[in-house]
Amino acid sequence: MHKPISRSDLAPSTVWPQCPLDDHIDYVLLDQPTIQQRVRELGQMISTEYAGKDLLLIAVLKGSMVFMADLMRAITIPHAIDFMATSSYGAEVTSKGVVRILKDLNEPIAGRNIIIVEDIIDSGNTLGYLSRILHERAPTTIRILTLLDKPERREVDIPVDWVGFAIPNHFVVGYGLDYNEIYRNLPYIGVLKPSVYSKPAA
Ligand code: IMP
Ligand code: MG
Repeated sequence: MHKPISRSDLAPSTVWPQCPLDDHIDYVLLDQPTIQQRVRELGQMISTEYAGKDLLLIAVLKGSMVFMADLMRAITIPHAIDFMATSSYGAEVTSKGVVRILKDLNEPIAGRNIIIVEDIIDSGNTLGYLSRILHERAPTTIRILTLLDKPERREVDIPVDWVGFAIPNHFVVGYGLDYNEIYRNLPYIGVLKPSVYSKPAA
């Protein structure tokens, strides 16, 4: 017979191996234990706040996938997930303010409690647009949770309900965040060396 297990019986999260991409990082802004601790706190907060209620998490691909995967396992109440994808900057490191829906939700959200899960809010253009179109679909409640926030860069004023970490205005990668589609697999969040993105095109 198997014994019922509780989460506290599980081994603490492992630290991932070093990789050659580490050399492209100027410095680590948020290390793995710091991120994991904050994700646990956010998960507990959501579990308490939405206990006994319907809950749908909507992650914005691709950057939020790593955060979403950890966050949902830190949430102890039943919930559903869905995904949207918007256009990204490509190889540029500043926002153009242009948002395009590349993938829409699978299910209607009318009458549901939704939380939009974002990796980072920079200008606010992406979330400003997304929350506007999702509001039109008449969910019961809609709230915004972002792992990272760069408040200095805000162009669009959006009500952010929960922020994992407010960070200075640096281009960061890792834990789902990319530069040119690379670095998403780093288990920490780091500042990219300027030499990586200031290389003249070949
Ligand atoms: P916003 O529309 O300017 O708020 O930009 C939001 C999106 O830009 C995020 O969801 C990220 O995908 C991307 N982004 C903004 N800042 C960074 C960064 O420092 N590193 C990686 N991606 C970023
Ligand atoms: Mg994103």
